[in-house]
Amino acid sequence: MSAVTIAEAVERLRAGDVVALPTETVYGLAARIDSEPALLKVFATKQRPSFDPLIVHVADVASARELASEWPALYDDLAAHFWPGPLTLIAPKREAVSMTITSGLMTVAIRCPSHPIFLQAIRDVGVPLAAPSANRFGRTSPTTAAHVEDEFGGSVAVVDGGASTVGVESTVLSAERSGDSWTIKLLRPGGVSREELKSFLNERQIQFTIQRESSLASPGNLKEHYQPDSPVAIISRAWSAELQALAEKTLQRKITSVSELKLPATPQHAARALYAEFRRLSRTPDHLIVIERRAEHANHEWEAVWDRIERAASLRL
Ligand code: TXA
Ligand code: MG
Repeated sequence: MSAVTIAEAVERLRAGDVVALPTETVYGLAARIDSEPALLKVFATKQRPSFDPLIVHVADVASARELASEWPALYDDLAAHFWPGPLTLIAPKREAVSMTITSGLMTVAIRCPSHPIFLQAIRDVGVPLAAPSANRFGRTSPTTAAHVEDEFGGSVAVVDGGASTVGVESTVLSAERSGDSWTIKLLRPGGVSREELKSFLNERQIQFTIQRESSLASPGNLKEHYQPDSPVAIISRAWSAELQALAEKTLQRKITSVSELKLPATPQHAARALYAEFRRLSRTPDHLIVIERRAEHANHEWEAVWDRIERAASLRL
């Protein structure tokens, strides 16, 4: 049994071990940022390539400022409104931040999670915690402690903090000032939607443009990601024998069974359910998971959910 209490988790983290902890987005595989062996163990446990940088989790803005060599005024505003919560801010790093965390980049990704267990762990360890999602590289992120057990066969200690309420990873952004206006680069859509960002900035009469950055701007933000064992197909009309024939032709294998992942009506509910549904419906590679894209999914509110579905999918029919 790999479930541990918060106190045990803190003890292990202090000693330089890795522990899976709940966040409001997904479960994270945490390590103290000042222990090189602990950071390397995160990469080894996940089989994560070294070019994919980690997010540092802090308990407050003051700690974020200690990691960043520049901290734009806009970040104070964003943090005051969206922290603790699913927003990750990219800032130039101070020298003390390990290149193992940033994969050699001169910037560092920082967020303050809202899950009380994660916040307590940061405070009790006394050092910020680096944490990627607690899954094997390229696979579906875990939103429960049981998912973490499935990923690592019980070999990783995990604190059970219930199901993650947001359900998809944090929004990752960077901001640059040009004159009177801010250019916000959206590196990964996530728990804070583009609409929420926009209305926050508009309310404060801040001038801005939001650009969706290509995956390449955020190393490790790979196209194929979040993949369950069964292939995923995005469909634009009801499933039929004709679509099945097309799927078999493209996959070059017989599909023996199909299940439909029915997205809930709101993007918030869909985000909360998505990864658990991938896991529930995933079987063998000759089983197919189909998801129908509806007209309303074109709305920006659905951006994060469809970003993850697009990366999980190997077929568009
Ligand atoms: O919600 C989340 O953010 C979760 C929970 C555990 O906090 N964490 C998470 O971590 O999703 P991970 O490692 O699965 O994804 C972090 C992403 C990476 O794909 C990477 O592209 C981006 O953050 N990232 C990290 N540091 C960066 C940097 N300096 N510049 C640009 N992108 C960065
Ligand atoms: Mg991940």
